[in-house]
Amino acid sequence: MAGGYNKEEGTFFDIREAYRTIRTNLMFSLVKKGCKRIVFTSAVQGEGKTTTSANVAFSIARSQRKVLLLDMDLRRPRLNRLLKLPNTPGLSNFLGGFNSLEEVLHKEVYENLDVICAGTIPPNPAELIGSDAMAQFLAKLEEHYDYIIIDTAPVNVVSDAMPVIKTCDGVVLVVKEKYSTHTELKKAINKIDFIGGRIIGTIVNAVHEEKHRYGHYAKIGYGEKPETNKEG
Ligand SMILES: Nc1ncnc2c1ncn2[C@@H]1O[C@H](COP(=O)(O)OP(=O)(O)OP(=O)(O)O)[C@@H](O)[C@H]1O
Ligand SMILES: [Mg+2]
Repeated sequence: MAGGYNKEEGTFFDIREAYRTIRTNLMFSLVKKGCKRIVFTSAVQGEGKTTTSANVAFSIARSQRKVLLLDMDLRRPRLNRLLKLPNTPGLSNFLGGFNSLEEVLHKEVYENLDVICAGTIPPNPAELIGSDAMAQFLAKLEEHYDYIIIDTAPVNVVSDAMPVIKTCDGVVLVVKEKYSTHTELKKAINKIDFIGGRIIGTIVNAVHEEKHRYGHYAKIGYGEKPETNKEG
């Protein structure tokens, strides 16, 4: 399969097997009953959170679990572009009381996969994400899904993701190879630890641009602390 989005297969890069491994590890990491809420984040911008969270969501949906993929990066919404969906109305519009759930929910984007995009960029993203309305919204959605996969902003850049990291079942830290420094990664881990977030895995996003092909993801150290780059 060439690089790029393949609708039938529901993947964006030639790495279906890698995502299957990640999916299996995630599923084993979270053995609780009922809906599992998983947050994807990173230390800094552009490490591959959106790409990874979307691909993992597709992979879980393919295993016959009902999945909701939620763009909670309210400052830099990107899921809409990746999936070619309208960004508005989305999450922020619902939380602001402007739209209903039915209006913001993209049903069956793929078999077993529903999507909610971020919506209009609000003036107060952190406040909105930490609001009671958001907590109630997620609790309500949990009744309908096996997994809620949440794409968020990088933790070292803004603290928007913190409230949802605190209340989720597990955090996946996406690390772009040879990109974020040891110091940055350590800072991100400390931030997540500090608020009691549970890091269930790290995904090293290896991008081989020099070879003119789409990169692949390698899973390392599920359930362990991530290894870090030599720099920094
Ligand atoms: N493995 C990969 N191989 C090639 N390109 C990739 C890979 N992963 C991500 N990209 C590209 O890198 C860019 C950043 O990826 P993505 O938007 O997923 O990162 P992000 O962490 O969500 O960024 P942001 O912090 O801005 O939200 C995108 O253009 C994406 O297509
Ligand atoms: Mg993103």
